[in-house]
Amino acid sequence: MPSRSIAFLGAGHLATALVRGLLAQKICPPADLVCTSKSGVSAQRLAAETGIAFEPDLPRLLATADTVVVAFKPQSLATADPRLAALTVGKLVISVLAGRRLARLTETFPHARNLVRLLPNTPAAIGAGITGWCAAQKLSDSDHVTVRQILDALGTHAEVPEEQLDAITALGGSGPAFVYEFVAALRDGGVAAGLPAETAAKFALETVLGSARLLARSGATPEQLRDQVASPNGTTAAGLQVLAARQFRETVRETILAATRRAGELARDA
Ligand SMILES: NC(=O)c1ccc[n+]([C@@H]2O[C@H](COP(=O)([O-])OP(=O)(O)OC[C@H]3O[C@@H](n4cnc5c(N)ncnc54)[C@H](OP(=O)(O)O)[C@@H]3O)[C@@H](O)[C@H]2O)c1
Repeated sequence: MPSRSIAFLGAGHLATALVRGLLAQKICPPADLVCTSKSGVSAQRLAAETGIAFEPDLPRLLATADTVVVAFKPQSLATADPRLAALTVGKLVISVLAGRRLARLTETFPHARNLVRLLPNTPAAIGAGITGWCAAQKLSDSDHVTVRQILDALGTHAEVPEEQLDAITALGGSGPAFVYEFVAALRDGGVAAGLPAETAAKFALETVLGSARLLARSGATPEQLRDQVASPNGTTAAGLQVLAARQFRETVRETILAATRRAGELARDA
């Protein structure tokens, strides 16, 4: 990669996860990365912590960059520097902005050689995210390599048609919050059943963690592993009966559908 080939607009949580992932996987040296941010505070901190460059001047930031990662808050797009249109001519622009569609991004980056939209989730901060992504046009081989390196820094990934990104936002993006809510509910159930809070919290977390790992490794479906745990008339069956009676699956289905609808509304209003 040429020197300073990736410029980051925004240096918050997501940009930090990306930079750390790229450096940890030795995809590029710190000298190839440069960042800026609105106040400069977060970008200076990221630069100091990782050894990448900080460049507050937008023309200088983008002069040597071949790829531009847009990692500020989605609402900042409306007030983004109008010089970005001219400064990103011929560059690969990769956006992580939730709820900002390719058509909207094209208004700000009309002359990019290609536009890519990534939808990561918060476990990306430890390289354990899952990212749905799509590109405005078919990626060239070399841009595909760049995009893949950035995706790998965040965890696993899947290319999807853009119209699926609202559902990906609900399942992958909001999904961690639903999982945390489930962990909290398991913990509270343990406390209600007589466990000390600390013990209940530990068992709730490790049970979810271990079950997810086993599911990932086994190649079995969740239903198959569930049935391995549940013997007829046993303790698990007693609990599963309550989940079914209280319409657990329907509730989760409605949860995902509500989040998907909201993602669509937010993208339309952008
Ligand atoms: N966090 C996640 O896991 C996650 C998951 C999916 C998608 N995303 C997306 O990632 C993006 C960033 O989220 P985040 O959690 O990293 O936010 P964050 O931690 O709040 O960081 C926002 C960054 O944007 C900078 N900034 C604000 N306005 C700017 C502008 N006009 N030009 C350049 N930089 C600007 C801020 O700079 P200063 O504070 O220094 O002024 C800060 O560095 C969002 O669009 C979000 O939708 C994040």
